[in-house]
Amino acid sequence: MWKFRDVISILDYTRDELEHLFSVTDVILERSLDVGKPLDGKIVATAFIEPSTRTRLSFETAAKRLGAEVINLEPHLSSMTKGESLTDTLRMLDDYANLIVIRSPYEGSAKHAADVCEHPVINGGDGTQHHPTQAMIDLYTIRKLKGRIDGLEVGVLGDLKYGRAAASFIYGLTKFNVKRIWLISPEPLSPRPELMDRLKRMNVDFVKTENLEEAVEDLDILYVTRIQKERFPDPAEYEKLRGSYVITKKLLSRASEDLKVLHPLPRVDELSNDVDDTPYQAYFIQAKLGVPVRMALIGLVLGVF
Ligand code: CP
Repeated sequence: MWKFRDVISILDYTRDELEHLFSVTDVILERSLDVGKPLDGKIVATAFIEPSTRTRLSFETAAKRLGAEVINLEPHLSSMTKGESLTDTLRMLDDYANLIVIRSPYEGSAKHAADVCEHPVINGGDGTQHHPTQAMIDLYTIRKLKGRIDGLEVGVLGDLKYGRAAASFIYGLTKFNVKRIWLISPEPLSPRPELMDRLKRMNVDFVKTENLEEAVEDLDILYVTRIQKERFPDPAEYEKLRGSYVITKKLLSRASEDLKVLHPLPRVDELSNDVDDTPYQAYFIQAKLGVPVRMALIGLVLGVF
């Protein structure tokens, strides 16, 4: 079910498979991340040709906690600076490691890596639509904090066009029976047609709005995202849209006291620091859960769980 399978998109997983991942994560957490060293002698490679803090370092932490060693491609120090192709670079990593985690700004890079490599490849985020392991963490966080995903009213706010964490999260929600999804964004940052098509095809109850006020009182979860400056073809367009939303403690005063605010991070100016010390804050819990979820994932893919 998971063993030696490439992890490219959250859409490739059934609800049962995701629930199996969550159960393994539960066990890892029950054991305070101490599950021995089942990956002793294995090597995990990270190939991040786009910046990352959480994804790269939590994969590295997860692999090391399982006893694997980790090698990191540092693109600026690699022979890619001499013009070596990504394909040739991946072939080398495939010779050296048992598992490759890739991040890239280019759509389809992870699938390409999976085609090139014999060892399993995990997508640590590519292009604008797919960041499957972030979605797994997001769904696990909701399940842990709320005890369920089904029946919840979920708002996804910010850059729903270029934000791959947002897109993957919404795709992930379609595997469950949420009550309603609120898609909250400025019109130019509306979700891409393929995502809207999936929501319609899956008969998901969704509302598309530019106005958070419309939704805030009804929400169980508010998933906030950064406007993805680096993906705008026209910087002037970004300047027009930056600061479209700023989530503050005051704004959340109208929300249910059980609301949880998630954010894949990094945040820039869309989520005020004054939310950090409120009961709404779930984004640092979400980031911390990245390690056990990725431990479960690596262990499943390498066949030790
Ligand atoms: N959430 C996330 O992907 O963060 P990083 O870009 O820091 O990895």
